[in-house]
Amino acid sequence: MAKIVIIMPAYNEAENIGPMITELFDKEFPQIKKADMHLLVVDDFSPDGTGDIVKKYQPKYPNLHLLQKPKEGLGWAYIRGMQYAMSQLQADAVIEMDADFQHPPRFVKNMVAAFLNGADYVIGSRYVKGGSIPKEWEFSRKAVSFFGNLFIRLVLLKPKVHDLTTGFRLTRVKGVLDQIDLNHLMEPSRFAYKVALLYQSIKNAKSTVEVPLEFASRTKEKSKFNPKEMISTFKVAIILGIKDKQKIIKFGMVGFLGYLVNAVALYIFTKLNWPGWAAWGLSTELAILSNFTWNNLWTFKDQQINGVVALVFKFLQFNFTSAGGLLIQVVVGVATDRLIGSQ
Ligand code: GDD
Ligand code: MN
Repeated sequence: MAKIVIIMPAYNEAENIGPMITELFDKEFPQIKKADMHLLVVDDFSPDGTGDIVKKYQPKYPNLHLLQKPKEGLGWAYIRGMQYAMSQLQADAVIEMDADFQHPPRFVKNMVAAFLNGADYVIGSRYVKGGSIPKEWEFSRKAVSFFGNLFIRLVLLKPKVHDLTTGFRLTRVKGVLDQIDLNHLMEPSRFAYKVALLYQSIKNAKSTVEVPLEFASRTKEKSKFNPKEMISTFKVAIILGIKDKQKIIKFGMVGFLGYLVNAVALYIFTKLNWPGWAAWGLSTELAILSNFTWNNLWTFKDQQINGVVALVFKFLQFNFTSAGGLLIQVVVGVATDRLIGSQ
C-alpha cells in the first residue's frame, strides 16, 4: 500500500494543531482505505507550545510524527519535512498542507484519489471549477490573489495550470520529488519556494492534475504572509520564466548561425566548382554540425552530453532528425515545383 505523508509546517498554531490532528486521524484518514496515511508536523520550536501539543497526541496516533528545528522560514520547514519523509519515513508521496484549516481536511481524500489514479503531481486548485477563494475576502485581496496567479501563469508559460501559488499539493516521490535538489531551491526561506518547487515538479511529473480546493479563511491565529513574500514570489517566477525563454532565444540564434554556415559554405564550394551534390551535402552537414555543437555546449548546457560514444550516438541521431526535416523540405519543394513551377 502506498505510504502518503502530509507535511504540515506549523508555527504558533497552538489553537489549530490539536483540532487538525484529530480531524485528520479520526475523520478523514479512516475514509482513505487504499493508502497508508501519515502526518508529519514541522514545528520551528514555536513559543506557544505547538510542538508539545503534537507530542501529547503521539501515543494515541502512531502515524503522527513531529520534526522540530530552528526557525528558518516556510520553505525550509517544507524542505526539511520532505527530506525527513523520504529518508526516515520512506514516503511514496508527500502532501503540502497548512495547519490553519485554510486547506480543509476533507479535500485530502480527493488528492489521494488522483494520486492512486496515476497522477504524479496533484495541485489543489482554487481557480478550477469547484474551487474557490473565501467569499468574505475583501475585493483587493481577491484581486491580488487572482492577478498574481495570472501573472505567474503568463511569465512561466504554464497556461494549463490554473493555480501556481496554492499551498496544497501532492507530489510523488519516485521520479518527481527525489529528482529535485531540495538543498538548492530558490528562496528557500520564503513562501516563494512554492513557485520554484512547482516549476521543477511539473517538469518531472509525467502527469499533473488539478483538483478543486475551496480555500477557507483563517479563523484562528494570524497569517505569516506579507508583501515581502509576494515580491519574492514574483521575482522567482520572473527569473524562472526568463530562464525558459533564454533557451528558446539561444535555440533560435543557433539555428540562424546554422543557416549562415550553410549559405557561406555553399557559396564557397560552388565557387570552387564542386559538383552540386557535394557542395550541397557538405554545407548541409557543416550546418548540422554547428547546430549540434552550439546547442550541446550552450543552449542545453544543463543537459550537456559528454563521452565520445554518447556524443557520436547523439550526433548521428541529430543527423537523422535533421535529414527528416530536409527530406520534408525536398518533398514539399519538388511537389510545389511540379504543381506550380515548371508547367
Ligand atoms: N514551521 C514553520 N515555520 N511553519 C510556518 C512558518 C515557518 O517559518 N511560516 C508559516 N508556517 C506555517 C503556518 O503555521 C501555516 O500552517 C502554514 O505554514 C501557512 O502559513 P500562513 O501564515 O497561514 O500562510 P497564508 O495562509 O497566508 O498563505 C497560504 O496561501 C498562500 C497563497 O496561496 C499558504 O498556503 C502559502 O503557501 C500560499 O502560497
Ligand atoms: Mn493560512
